[in-house]
Formats: sequence, structure tokens, C-alpha cells
Amino acid sequence: MAETGHASSFHADRVGETAQHQRLVDVLDAQAAMPSVQRLRRWALDAVGVEPGDRTLDIGSGTGSEVLAFARLAGPTGDAVGLDPNPAMLEVARKRAATARIPAHFVEGSAYALPFDDDFFDLVRSERVYQHLDHPDRATAEIARVLRPGGRAMLIDSDWATALLHPGDPAVVGRVLQHLLGPNRNVGRRLRGLLIAAGFEIDDVGAGAALWDPATVVPLARTAGEQAAAEGVITTAQLATLTADLDRGIATGDYHFSVTMFAVLAHRPRMSPRSS
Ligand SMILES: C[S@@+](CC[C@H](N)C(=O)[O-])C[C@H]1O[C@@H](n2cnc3c(N)ncnc32)[C@H](O)[C@@H]1O
Repeated sequence: MAETGHASSFHADRVGETAQHQRLVDVLDAQAAMPSVQRLRRWALDAVGVEPGDRTLDIGSGTGSEVLAFARLAGPTGDAVGLDPNPAMLEVARKRAATARIPAHFVEGSAYALPFDDDFFDLVRSERVYQHLDHPDRATAEIARVLRPGGRAMLIDSDWATALLHPGDPAVVGRVLQHLLGPNRNVGRRLRGLLIAAGFEIDDVGAGAALWDPATVVPLARTAGEQAAAEGVITTAQLATLTADLDRGIATGDYHFSVTMFAVLAHRPRMSPRSS
């Protein structure tokens, strides 16, 4: 539920609005610590196959954890770049890279206008960013532009229509999530089509359910529910029932919150002509 009550803070157009950067970092760290997320990331890292000397890019790199993973594999002859529009995220990522003594680079920018030459990278990844973009097709065209022919792209994103919160009335939970998340909240299912439309060939598809523990979900669920009630999407009575159901579920252990993340590996064909 990272992207519920805090969805707007991850949106590029609104990164300056919040003073709650530390909360965003905490949410990303909580996600990175989930065994379910670690399993999908390990699969993705394996599937994409970083070689020593590779030039790699992570778009919407957040705290930079996956940039560091790329940097370790690309080695001193390669390059690992993280790009994010949020200066506060870049600062955290740079500090963590310095502490780990890993020579990764972090650049301020947007997925819509990557500040890199054509055919520059061997591989590009982007995780849980497309759900915050109004135009994921434009971002995918940019990935195709900066990748060399034969270069690989790995896109990972949630599909919030797959979210399960138990206990709780599924209709009420669905209304809260679908209202609070942006228009591309269900982009997980579209990753493959977006890549094909941008001229990529698909190599593999993976999936994993991110399983959230109560300590992370409860504060986010409360904020999301309160916001939805304040905006008239659910009634205050429905909010009270949802909160009570959740409290009871957590107390008895009859609790579940998950959302499916999809991952697609693709490559730019070796003989792909530029459209412009
Ligand atoms: C949910 S976080 C995911 C961070 C990281 N990829 C991860 O999986 O932990 C979304 C990230 O996308 C970034 N972002 C938002 N709009 C973007 C845009 N137009 N271009 C690139 N990154 C963007 C946000 O600043 C934030 O760091």
C-alpha cells in the first residue's frame, strides 16, 4: 500500500509538495526488506544478466538500492546510473552509495526526457515508477532511444486491481485503492504491451505478490481510508467498519495484504531502425 495515502508524493509533478521525504524513504525501505520483493528483484537481476563493463540505468531509482546492485555486477569498467526527479531521493541514494563505497552515479531527471545520448546503455530497468506516470508510453519510447540495439529493458510494476486486504469489505477496499491511486494504478498488466508498442521483443515475464506486514500497512491504510472518507468515496461508517475489521484481523492473525507485481524482460532488436 506504499502508493496509497502517499501516492501523490511519488508523482513527479508533486515531489516538491511534501516535507515527508523520510516517510517515503521508510516506505521504500520497508518494501525493499520484504522477502517477497527481494525474491522478485533477485529473479529480475538474474534474468537481465548484467555483465562486467555494462552501462546500466535505473529510472525512478528512489533510494538507489538496485543501482548499487547493478554497480557491483557491472564493475569498475562499467557504469551504474540512477535517475530520479526527486532531489531528496537522490541525496539519500548518493549518501548510501558513498557509505557502501560503490561508485554509482545519480542524476536528476524525468523518464520523459532522459538526459542521455541515443544507443548509450546496455540495460535499463524501472520499478514501480510507471504507476505514477501519466504517459508510460512516452517513457518506454525514451528507454528504446537510450538503449543500444540488443540492449535489455526490465520493467517491474504493481497492478493494484490485484490488491487483497483481508479482513475488509472488498468493495470498500477496492473503492479506496482505485480512488487514491493514479490513472495508471493497474499498469502491471500493460508492461508487455507498452514494450511491444515501443519496438521491443519480449524475452521473459515474471510475477510476485508483495506481502505487506501489519506494522507497515496499518498506518498507511488508516491514512488512505481517512482520505477516502474525507473525499466522500466511502462513508464514515464504512471507514469505521474497515478499521475495526483490520484491528480484529491483526489481533487474531486472520490478516492478509498483498498486491501482485509484474516484471517483463525485453530487448531492443539488433536491426531496429530509429523512427526519427
Ligand atoms: C514507488 S517509488 C519506486 C522507487 C524504486 N524504483 C523502488 O522500486 O524502490 C517511485 C519513484 O519514481 C520516481 N518518479 C516519479 N515520477 C518520475 C518520472 N517522471 N521520471 C522518473 N522517476 C519518477 C519517484 O521520485 C520515486 O523515487
